Amino acid sequence: MDKASLVVLISGTGSNLQAIIDAIKNNELNAEISTVISNQVSAAGLERATRENITTHVIEHKRYPNREFFDQALMQVIDPLKPDLVVLAGFMRILSDNFVEHYRHRLINIHPSLLPKYKGLNTHQKAISNKDKVHGASVHYVGTELDSGPVVIQAEVPVLATDTAETLAKRVLKEEHKIYPLAIKLHIEGRVTFDDGQLKLDGQQLTRPLLWKNNQLS
Ligand code: GRF
Repeated sequence: MDKASLVVLISGTGSNLQAIIDAIKNNELNAEISTVISNQVSAAGLERATRENITTHVIEHKRYPNREFFDQALMQVIDPLKPDLVVLAGFMRILSDNFVEHYRHRLINIHPSLLPKYKGLNTHQKAISNKDKVHGASVHYVGTELDSGPVVIQAEVPVLATDTAETLAKRVLKEEHKIYPLAIKLHIEGRVTFDDGQLKLDGQQLTRPLLWKNNQLS
């Protein structure tokens, strides 16, 4: 089987990008990252990509008059690469409906909460303030509303009485690094599909997200 082609969009540290790179190197993912795009010139993830000889592009959103123009510039770089999957990995920009529709069914994101809980920012603090017992992360296909779209996998982590937003974020991030490559694998192997508004696993409708807990998928 041909390698799946991925384009990864980042804004920052790129630890999820690194997890995907590592999964490819370990032959856990039959894929290659054709390009990493960042909207921030200072994103540390760009160095991770360069170290691995992956092509990088910086497209600074602030150089564009509005979201539509910025998203057009992204598409102009992405489209010729014909990616099987566009992977948002800590990409801190809201994308236009146009962009989301353009890559519908092949645009995926990771969000640090158990969606639909806590869309947007400061998710770890919200979980602590609400005295949640469990928190986590979700990998989902991207819909036009913020942090919406069908969730493929969620990872649960316990919230400890001693947790701060930082300690909790660290624990969640560790699980993100497991579930993101896993979700990408399920997509590129065609096991998970999102077509005609239906999320399916092995041809069967998935009525709840797959759950990653205690290092196991259920
Ligand atoms: C992760 O927590 C991800 O869920 C969120 O942004 C963070 C990115 O981290 N969308 P990194 O850049 O992958 O290290």
